[in-house]
Amino acid sequence: MAKITASVYTSHVPAIGTAIDLGKTQEPYWQPVFQGYDFSKQWMKDNQPDVIFLVYNDHATAFSLDLIPTFAIGTAAEFQPADEGWGPRPVPKVIGHPELASHIAQSVIQQDFDLTIVNKMDVDHGLTVPLSLMCGQPQAWPCPVIPFAVNVVQYPVPSGQRCFALGQAIRKAVESFDQDLNVQIWGTGGMSHQLQGPRAGLINREWDNAWLDKLIADPKAAAAVPHIDYVREAGSEGIELVMWLIARGAMADVAGGPAPKLAHRFYHVPASNTAVGHLILENQ
Ligand code: DHB
Ligand code: FE
Repeated sequence: MAKITASVYTSHVPAIGTAIDLGKTQEPYWQPVFQGYDFSKQWMKDNQPDVIFLVYNDHATAFSLDLIPTFAIGTAAEFQPADEGWGPRPVPKVIGHPELASHIAQSVIQQDFDLTIVNKMDVDHGLTVPLSLMCGQPQAWPCPVIPFAVNVVQYPVPSGQRCFALGQAIRKAVESFDQDLNVQIWGTGGMSHQLQGPRAGLINREWDNAWLDKLIADPKAAAAVPHIDYVREAGSEGIELVMWLIARGAMADVAGGPAPKLAHRFYHVPASNTAVGHLILENQ
């Protein structure tokens, strides 16, 4: 049977991707950001998954106001890096896992979540920047990736509670897949940031760190945080954090198992307009 071995959480700032692509990671502004991922790149090599289930948000790249799926699962064999205005990032194409993705779609839809099935989709910085942070600049990504896009851009967005419950359904789906696969689930986006309006530039270190404490030790409490609190405290784009609750909901302790091991925790400001947060939790 497949199993979820670990969850990874990270912000996805587009300027981080540009800093990597232009060879600027050791510049004084960026060095403290990338240093927080040195442990993680080694951890990825030591804990190589067979598949990554990568929860992220599309930024009006694959979807637009024409079509707004709340939850969309990528079932294709491959996904190209998107052109977000300056040409596609020079990163490998993303190889999917159609068999596992289709199984998860079947199982999760039968557990009463409405997923949109996407057989063709380009993936933007929301997905490629976390891969770059965790894997560096390889010729090919180390394993297949199932993109799972959540609408946190256009209202109405899903609640933390629903994302947390969805994570639990994804865990059941993975564990009923009839192949011995080591699956990691990644929750990406956040932390506090607001890109628009009078509060543009908002960062809330204290709230971010208190939320990380909760996500690690009391995920039910983190899931109960109402949408308006994210917007008030973490800014309009801080709502991206609900995606971390999907990954957290898929961990063993939520289904009655042992608490996960905190392998790594990192927080840094500034990175572009965003506070960067990063966690690695291992199932025991
Ligand atoms: C920034 C952060 C984001 O999450 C995003 O999608 C776009 C820009 C930023 O910090 O600039
Ligand atoms: Fe974003």
